Amino acid sequence: MKIVAIYGSPRKGGNTDTLLKKAVEGAILAGAQVDEFFLRDMKISPCLEIYACKEDGRCAIKDDFQKIFNAISDSKGIIVASPVFLYGVSAQLKAFIDRCQSRWVKKYVIDGVPFGRERFNRLGLLISVGASHGKRLFDGVLLTVRYFMDAIDTKLWKSLLYRGLEDKDDVLKHEEYLVEALNAGQQLVLAIERTKFVF
Ligand SMILES: Cc1cc2nc3c(=O)[nH]c(=O)nc-3n(C[C@H](O)[C@H](O)[C@H](O)COP(=O)(O)O)c2cc1C
Repeated sequence: MKIVAIYGSPRKGGNTDTLLKKAVEGAILAGAQVDEFFLRDMKISPCLEIYACKEDGRCAIKDDFQKIFNAISDSKGIIVASPVFLYGVSAQLKAFIDRCQSRWVKKYVIDGVPFGRERFNRLGLLISVGASHGKRLFDGVLLTVRYFMDAIDTKLWKSLLYRGLEDKDDVLKHEEYLVEALNAGQQLVLAIERTKFVF
């Protein structure tokens, strides 16, 4: 079983990197093959709104987007990690997500899938962290990631959301978060094995 892990933080070795690494470790322990993508090291243009995707559902901009997209197409699970930046995801992750508008066009415009009809062929795990403690800290991230996953026929299976993590190594003070991330990676693989995908 293939899983794609998308590292969305610009900060190497930061909190989301550490948590995602743990989740990847868990998925591998459970028998998955994991393809890891570090967005900060990749060349991914934002969406340019040229809508060439209306022809065939493919994004016409040629850069590293296709590498990740091809890996996702081949996968049964995705794990995405992003810090909260001004109540949304990082710019690196948002650029990637916006390019998936090509898949939204394919699904809802070209294929004409009715809105609200469940259709998914993989499960997703979200990991996000923020420095503050507000009740609504993850509202923006969750909305964006939910709609991103819908566009690529992925069901958001679980979210690990941690408040109060600011400095690079803050997550290391919380062994329980690391254990939770490892377990979530393992459980994602088991959940995929048990899921009857709807298409
Ligand atoms: C540009 C920027 C915007 C941020 N915006 C928020 C925010 O809106 N709310 C919050 O609680 N923390 C915010 N933070 C703090 C980060 O979410 C926090 O430091 C996090 O641990 C970074 O994760 P990382 O180590 O994986 O990069 C922001 C940090 C940066 C650099």
